Amino acid sequence: MEELKSIQWYPGHMTRTKRKIESQLKLIDAVAIILDARVPYSSCNPDLRSIINNKPRMVVLNKSDMADSNETKKWIKLFKEKGIPAVSLDCKSGRGLNMFIPTVKELLADKIKSWEEKGMTGRTIKVMVVGIPNVGKSSFINRMAKQNRAKVEDRPGVTRGNQWFTIGKGFDLLDTPGVLWHRFDDKQVGEKLAYIGSIKDEILDTEHLAGRLLEYLRDNNTEQLCARYKLIPEDISGLEGYDILELVGKKRGMLISGGEINTERAALTVLDEFRSATLGKITLDKTEDCTDVKI
Ligand code: G4P
Repeated sequence: MEELKSIQWYPGHMTRTKRKIESQLKLIDAVAIILDARVPYSSCNPDLRSIINNKPRMVVLNKSDMADSNETKKWIKLFKEKGIPAVSLDCKSGRGLNMFIPTVKELLADKIKSWEEKGMTGRTIKVMVVGIPNVGKSSFINRMAKQNRAKVEDRPGVTRGNQWFTIGKGFDLLDTPGVLWHRFDDKQVGEKLAYIGSIKDEILDTEHLAGRLLEYLRDNNTEQLCARYKLIPEDISGLEGYDILELVGKKRGMLISGGEINTERAALTVLDEFRSATLGKITLDKTEDCTDVKI
């Protein structure tokens, strides 16, 4: 997985994004950080905290339809303990989207009260949406905008390219001005993002990746893995990922001429089935291991 390191490093990119976000902070009241509920730690940009400074912030755990709901609850609790409101939702079914606006209002309760005291009743609340690629930012914004039958508008006086979306009466979202990246210095993070499909497969060795995923699942989600591929826990304990991959291929009858196992096909199947949650709703980042998460 050495190759991951080089493709993740975008210093110029990050600096541009940092500056853009910083210049927009004065226009917004709060920041909504979109994370992938299967990897809330790995999908969280470590520099975000310093970029958004002390703006009120909240977390949206998206794709919760594919995550372990117990783990998602634990993550919400952990963020709340750190003083950050968090909601879980999914943009496929729309479940949980209705919690977003009330949570922002709660986050900004003191501010809203002081606006009202100053006679600024009904002042528009403006929230910037941030997140690393593929966490579902566009899906979230589109869903929110559609749900509230609002039109997308370009605001005069604001830097071109900024997208404002009205998602409700007196409530606007600002799409992120730029791209945030993830924790490029942590090998495990890179692997987890590759498992969920955030890093394009073309630049990865799929058999190696599927093998690593199988080792992970063998150690952490044995039951789901064994049930899906009809494996016996004792048979795979201590095996290398590639050997488990061969077993999966064999069980699925994926053979090439000469009776050899088509491990390439088996690898694609394992990755596909994991990414579509056919293998089960699996959360890769566990709160116990990530108590230092900072936002
Ligand atoms: P981004 O702006 O942060 O880069 O993410 P985007 O909305 O483009 O979403 C990335 C992929 O994740 C899309 O799939 C999208 O459909 C999917 N997605 C977003 N939210 C959810 C969710 O809550 N649950 C599930 N299961 N999937 C979600 P895609 O295959 O890249 O595109 P498409 O074929 O679905 O259009």
